[in-house]
Amino acid sequence: MNAVATPRKSSPRKLAGTSVGIPPRQLNFRIPQAPRYFLDDNATATTFIAVLSAFFPPGEDFFVESVRRFRDRIDDPQLKAEVSGFIGQEAIHGREHERLNEMFLEQGIDITVPDRAVKAALWVLERLPHRQQLACTTFMEHFTALLGEQLLTDENFRSSAHGEMLQLWLWHALEELEHKAVAYDVYETVGNRRLERILAYPLVAGTMLPAVFASWGWLLAREGKLGDRDDIRHGFAMMLGRSGLIGKILPKMGLFARKDFHPSKRNTKALEQTWRERLFGEGGTLREQVKNLASTVH
Ligand SMILES: [Fe+2]
Ligand SMILES: [Fe+2]
Repeated sequence: MNAVATPRKSSPRKLAGTSVGIPPRQLNFRIPQAPRYFLDDNATATTFIAVLSAFFPPGEDFFVESVRRFRDRIDDPQLKAEVSGFIGQEAIHGREHERLNEMFLEQGIDITVPDRAVKAALWVLERLPHRQQLACTTFMEHFTALLGEQLLTDENFRSSAHGEMLQLWLWHALEELEHKAVAYDVYETVGNRRLERILAYPLVAGTMLPAVFASWGWLLAREGKLGDRDDIRHGFAMMLGRSGLIGKILPKMGLFARKDFHPSKRNTKALEQTWRERLFGEGGTLREQVKNLASTVH
């Protein structure tokens, strides 16, 4: 039972995903007035986050499509409801990141370049057999789940971010954990092949990493920061250093290739519950910004 529950006499219809702990919360995020470099006043780290935000809407469309095309093969009502929750959550993530991306554009941070770069990378992945696309999705979902877990546990990193801007990322991180096993369970249903999983590494890395680094460099150049060694050194350490947000999860990416891999083997239930409370419980920081709160509490 979710402790966020707000009992009502005539309770609204529960969404399918809600009943299985994957509620699509209709967040209407209030975009805050934040400094241009909302991560430690650092251009390198902030533009990396802008690249990530630009990647999410097309990336999450790819995730959804690669799962949706196998939906007919699922008979288990539990997994069917989980897929509904997954699709709902990812669709709303994409929508809210598009709104954040509008803010970047208004500030003159031209995220149309990372947008084009990720679409080119995804165009390549979309040429793969459907099963391989699903395997790539499960690999990227492993990454987003680890990223979410890292953000929710890394107090040091969070303290460097603008508090209100951070909220969108906390909500996204929580929901990535809530639905982290869904794509994988669909993949298990249609026959999990280890070779396809191993192939997902070079396929995703070979398409996504050039897109990330090219568009990150381009944004930094536009900010006039390519020559600012201090900014770049500090930003790299924050993101890719051994104690950085991404740097900390890279060693765990290898778990995905293990024979006995399953996303749920990393138990994040207590972490999820803590953040459901902090974000959507009584006095939760995002509670007022969710339009369907009552329909998302199970
Ligand atoms: Fe997402
Ligand atoms: Fe996801």
